[in-house]
Order: sequence, then structure tokens, then C-alpha cells
Amino acid sequence: MHGVIVSNFKRYLDEFIGTDAWGEVIAGAGLEGKTYLPVALYPDEEMEALLKAAEGATGLRRDDLLADFGEWVMGPLIDMYQAMIPPGWDAMTFLVNMQQIHERILRLKDPAARAPNILVHKRGEDTLEIHYYSHRNMAAMILGAVKGVAAYFNETASLLGSEAGEGGEQRFVFHLEANPAQACEVG
Ligand code: HEM
Repeated sequence: MHGVIVSNFKRYLDEFIGTDAWGEVIAGAGLEGKTYLPVALYPDEEMEALLKAAEGATGLRRDDLLADFGEWVMGPLIDMYQAMIPPGWDAMTFLVNMQQIHERILRLKDPAARAPNILVHKRGEDTLEIHYYSHRNMAAMILGAVKGVAAYFNETASLLGSEAGEGGEQRFVFHLEANPAQACEVG
């Protein structure tokens, strides 16, 4: 797992439960003394152990934790990789190009890396369908990530439906809507 995800997971926990929590989580995961850098790659098992320990520290189940983290992390990730996002994109354009964005980011570190299998299709003007398949079973992150992306582009995402397939496969349908313009203060 790419360090940008693991290191931001630490930042998320620092913000969510306070800086002491990381010590508890890393000890609970059996990874004391380990540091995580955004520029390195780490074994998937370490992210999984950190998630499990964080369940205990936050009181959230793995899927709720992943969804909340997914929403939180979109702002920092988009800021970090902003140079890859052409001006004028909206949330729909960004999400429809998600597979290519993941591939480009992962291949910067490892030319042979395979991006998570997240296929996004536009269905009608404001609706999109997302198919996820990965042995990592992190589909729940998508629930928050789409909301976080929408918020970044000043839009709101609503989940219209979801269904689980076999072996970690998952399908989601979201609706996107631009937020109403803020009233300007006159005077
Ligand atoms: C600029 C925005 C984004 C960046 C920079 C980014 C980057 C990454 C990176 C580096 C990983 C680790 C993959 C690996 O190590 O193999 C990852 C994982 C993941 N990302 Fe993103 N991501 C972004 C947006 C999104 C969005 C919008 C979604 C949802 C539609 C999403 C869903 C996921 C999921 C579910 C995983 C877990 C991987 C798995 O299950 O195999 N990401 N992302």
C-alpha cells in the first residue's frame, strides 16, 4: 500500500482522536517504532493491522472508519496531486478519470504497479456508477471518497444504491449536485 494513504491515515487519526491515539494504534497493530512516509510503499498487512487497531481506538467498525477516512483524506490528496488535475474539471470529470489518476500516481513510484480496480461510468447527466474490485476489500472508502471529492468541487454527492458482489466486488450509484451559490453580502 502506497505511503500516501498510510501516512494520511495517521494524520486522520491524530485529528480524529488526538495525537496520543497513534501510539495506541501502532502498539495495538504490533508495529511500534515504525514510521510511515508518503513517498514509500508498505505491506498491505500493515495497513490492515493499523485499521484493526484503529477500530478499537475509535469505536468505529472497519467500514465506517474507511468511509470516514475516505471523506477526510480527499482534500489532502487532491491538494497534493493538484498538478494532475486540469483546470475546469468538476467532480464528475474527476471521478470518471479516477482509474487513470490512480495509475499515474502509482506508476510514479513503481512502473509495474497495478492501480486499484475502480471503474467509474457516467450514467445520465448527474449520476455515476462505480464498480470496485480489489483483494484489499476497501470498497467502503469509496462511500466517503466520493463525498469528499464532491465537497472539494463545491458539490454534494448522494448515494442512490449499493450492492455487494462476490469476492470483495462492490457496486455503487451516486448522484452529484452543485451546491447552491452562496448569497453575496451587499454593502
Ligand atoms: C487525488 C485523489 C486521489 C489520490 C491521490 C489517490 C491515491 C491513492 C493511492 C496512492 C492509493 C494506494 C493504492 C496502492 O497502494 O496500491 C489509493 C487507494 C485507494 N483509493 Fe485512491 N486516490 C484518490 C482518489 C480516490 C477516489 C476519488 C476514490 C473513490 C472513488 C478512491 C478510492 C480508493 C480506494 C478504494 C483505495 C484502496 C485500494 C484498494 O482497495 O485496492 N481514491 N488511492
